[in-house]
Amino acid sequence: MQLINALDRQRSVYLQGASGTLQKLPFDFEDLEKRAQQQMHPKAWAYVAGGAGQEDTMQANRTEFARWRIVPRMLRDVESRTLGTQLFGLELPVPFFLAPIGVLEMVHPEADRAVAQAAGAMGIPYLFSNQASVPMEICAAAMGNSPRFFQLYWSKSDELVVSFLQRAKAAGCSGIVVTLDTTMLGWRPRDLDLASLPFLSGMGIAQYTSDPVFRQIMEEPDPGTGAPTTISWESIRTLIGATRRFPGSFWKNLRSNAGINAVRTFIRIYSRPNITWKDLHFLRQHTDLPIILKGILHPDDARKALDYGVDGIYISNHGGRQVDGAISALEALPGIVEVVRNKVPVLIDSGFRGGADAFKALALGATAVGIGRPYCYALALNGAAGVAELLNNWMADLELTMGLAGCKSVDEIKTATLINTY
Ligand code: FNR
Ligand code: LAC
Repeated sequence: MQLINALDRQRSVYLQGASGTLQKLPFDFEDLEKRAQQQMHPKAWAYVAGGAGQEDTMQANRTEFARWRIVPRMLRDVESRTLGTQLFGLELPVPFFLAPIGVLEMVHPEADRAVAQAAGAMGIPYLFSNQASVPMEICAAAMGNSPRFFQLYWSKSDELVVSFLQRAKAAGCSGIVVTLDTTMLGWRPRDLDLASLPFLSGMGIAQYTSDPVFRQIMEEPDPGTGAPTTISWESIRTLIGATRRFPGSFWKNLRSNAGINAVRTFIRIYSRPNITWKDLHFLRQHTDLPIILKGILHPDDARKALDYGVDGIYISNHGGRQVDGAISALEALPGIVEVVRNKVPVLIDSGFRGGADAFKALALGATAVGIGRPYCYALALNGAAGVAELLNNWMADLELTMGLAGCKSVDEIKTATLINTY
């Protein structure tokens, strides 16, 4: 599916309906969510839909949108509209990007590759997750020249970090998005209830198992970490799953115990909770790609990021999956925009549920808006075609909201009137 303008999209929905064909995805987000839940395994649902603690921050990500109101302006000739925008020198058709989401094999068998295909066909940037189910090179190949970025989790192994940076460059990525808010996974009751951690079955570690440096680290003696040791049906299932997911022959991998070894190695080196601002120099030394910090919520951290010469700020609370009680991303936006003063792009995600939400963030000074869980649900329901359909719906929603509010372009959205009704 290619880019479609809002009126054509709207017309095609109504015309197809008139001849008896309804769209595959529901337009309302809650319906989309419900339909996806029916489609997904309970463990996949818990992982994707869940958040940290009581999920207060997840809720705050939504309630903050309701506080901001658009004041539409009239008689401004909005017949010709464009959503085109620029980001790190790239020309984008819309101010959207697909946020990095790990373990998409839980959602759909084609996982990241299907997302890459949909985003690639539309020229919408896709941020490859460090915890992807498909190696970045395969996703890149599905995207042609379409823009992509690599999201990095800072491993305990510097060599692995460098290898990821080099692979990202070779795979045509336009920047490195370093996620800072997940040096450890948050306290997530839905996953804890099911005792479900997908990585233990070898899911979401494809960037690692496809990496030559990681494969070397696997050879090092294992100091012994907590993978399952008692034999049960569940542990055998875990063993088979991890073995099957490891690249190469199943029987060879079973004999060498490669699957479980990869999981153990991953658990051992996944993250470095002791990183500090000074470590950013290391990244700068090892990549010439733009560096974007994901998870910034405090204006002082944004200021510090600028001092350290980063190329982009990405406001996010990880969709409420990390610190329950953290402020919503939208709440953090105005203060950070004030500090950044257009020096670098300001990206944002967490809680966006339709194109009209993006209007508010753009009006408050964001450069581009990240789509998260909604594209997982579209993927669950209809693979690559589902993701493309969702993207077209979001574009149409934003374009119509923009025009009806009296704006013709993303630059004009920045001058739109928003009031805070709090
Ligand atoms: C994420 N997110 C995420 N972020 C990241 O930097 N690397 C990752 O691997 C993941 N993985 C991941 C998995 C799942 C299932 C979810 C829901 C989220 C966070 C993601 O990039 C983004 O910040 C949030 O999804 C935004 O919140 P909403 O819009 O999904 O509520
Ligand atoms: C998560 C990690 C993978 O949120 O980012 O589950």
